[in-house]
Amino acid sequence: MTKKASSFQVYLTCAFASIGGFLFGYDTGVISGVLTMNDFLKYFGGTRALERQQLDSSISGAIVGILIGGCFVGALFGGPAGDRFSRKYSIVLFCWIFILGAILQTASIHIAMLLVSRFIAGVGIGALSMLIPVYQSEIAPKEIRGRLISLQQWLITIGIAVSFWINYVDVRQKMRFIALGSIGKLYVFLVGTDTHLSGTSISWRLPLALQIIPGLTLAFGIFFFPFSPRWLMDHDRDEEAIKVLARIRANGNTSDPVVQAEYLEIKEEIALERAESVRSYLELFKYPLRRRLILGVFSQIFQQFTGINSVMYYAPAIFKQAGLGTNSASLLATGINGCVNILATIPAILWVDKLGRRLILISGAFVTAISMLIVGGVIVVDSYGAVGIALDNQAAKYVIIVFVYVFVAGFAYSWGPTTWIYCTEIFPLSMRAKGTSITTASNWGANMIVSFVVPVMMEKITYGTYLFFGSCCVVMLVAVFLFYPETKNKRLEDIDEVFNTSSVIVAFRKSRGGKIKPDPKPDVLDGNDVELADGRGRTPSQHSKYTNGTAFGSLPPTYSSEDGEPRTSPDLPRISIAGSHSQRVSYERPRLSADVLRASSTVSPNSVGITHKSLADEADDSAKF
Ligand code: BGC
Repeated sequence: MTKKASSFQVYLTCAFASIGGFLFGYDTGVISGVLTMNDFLKYFGGTRALERQQLDSSISGAIVGILIGGCFVGALFGGPAGDRFSRKYSIVLFCWIFILGAILQTASIHIAMLLVSRFIAGVGIGALSMLIPVYQSEIAPKEIRGRLISLQQWLITIGIAVSFWINYVDVRQKMRFIALGSIGKLYVFLVGTDTHLSGTSISWRLPLALQIIPGLTLAFGIFFFPFSPRWLMDHDRDEEAIKVLARIRANGNTSDPVVQAEYLEIKEEIALERAESVRSYLELFKYPLRRRLILGVFSQIFQQFTGINSVMYYAPAIFKQAGLGTNSASLLATGINGCVNILATIPAILWVDKLGRRLILISGAFVTAISMLIVGGVIVVDSYGAVGIALDNQAAKYVIIVFVYVFVAGFAYSWGPTTWIYCTEIFPLSMRAKGTSITTASNWGANMIVSFVVPVMMEKITYGTYLFFGSCCVVMLVAVFLFYPETKNKRLEDIDEVFNTSSVIVAFRKSRGGKIKPDPKPDVLDGNDVELADGRGRTPSQHSKYTNGTAFGSLPPTYSSEDGEPRTSPDLPRISIAGSHSQRVSYERPRLSADVLRASSTVSPNSVGITHKSLADEADDSAKF
């Protein structure tokens, strides 16, 4: 195996986990088409609904909204489960919850069953929507972490587009989707009757059933992929962790310097976090994590207040408002919309790690703001005083359709993937799953608000809907510019520095990533220093723990520093390690952390082939080539 094979492993693992994104996209998208199917209307709403071509709005609203409610709850449960049962087994658990929900949806015989089953499926999707990016972020090397997490967003867009196209095909009865046809035939073959086919409740049951296949694939397939090495180490399963790190970084070579360096980085972070007992949800609401929680929660709320789902859920209505009269024409335009969404996510996959999170979010907010304002503006210009009347100016219709696509593209390359990336990156290991679960729940909460409010807005203030979302995009542009530090290309273990050494307003700092400052301090620390002896930024409270000895006191009794004193930067050996990702990794290996490591390591160093001495030696050796 070559190094390429290792990176193939990483890509494969993260791409496979992204199937959860497909479930997310498909299940949230498929219902809008199902709600318009004649057989569905007749089955759940009787002939009245069939004649009106719609269910009562309260019922259809509940059918759409309850899934999102389930997602909200699932996102909150996903965090503790991910910490407790592992990211990997929690993915399995919530996949099965999703599958149960999908089976019950498919088999629904009355509204109550449909609602309950959609809630259950939602719990699965919501939890997966936070567990998967967390898992991906902990598997990924820092250089391509953004790219790998973007894969989940890409699969979301693919799931949405597939559901759009299945809906479109359903409208065009003659163009029966080949897959649907074959599964229908298989159904007849297995069940031995075609009553359902001729009664055609299968026309809505099939699209709901199809999602079980990717669900099962993920539930079984994930067993072939590794645990998160960071979760393993957080549970003192270092031997397994080092094997996983070796598998995904160095083709199974546990003594590879890159593997060993990452092992030590994680170990150090865990030791520090344990010393500080950063564990409970409450910590997220306190200094210093509060700032990250606020940034994460707002990034997810902002994502929804771009107005993306006003377009995703109500695109057919928008296109109709723009004058695409027939159902079929507006659904076709919606299908194209889905393709734009998929294609425009590709640049993010390619460049999010090069361009950085800030630039992408700021430029994305700019593009989405302009497009929303133009769409709103054109409707104002054309129908001012005649609100609700379809446009008759041909050019204006095209402007609206084109700028809806530009809007979707602007979202797809920026806020779509980057919010998921950013939220998994900003929390320390011990709080990553919990923090991401809250930020993800905010996404679903905001999604729910948008999906309830948009139909009312579109009815009452028409173009004002787009002007409102356009203005929100302007606000988020400014917010990212001012407050969001850059996280690209940082080890997850180094993210603390980004936040702890950068002030709240990052816009005018030279280094928006909060670079480590060289330590100008004397040998002996006093309680006012904010920079720790290892040269890394710490908060004053963290720092005082180290300087007044409480952190050391809380370490296991076997702990002893070499001379009983914390070290200062000048003592630190500088280690340069040849990275496996064609970059040289240069970092400071703090003496303190080696001490802490020695104190807290529960694994026999020899059993994993690592000793602190051998590490330093290896690192020094590798620095020579
Ligand atoms: C959002 C969804 C949205 C989708 C569109 C996701 O990142 O969270 O609400 O429907 O992108 O592609």
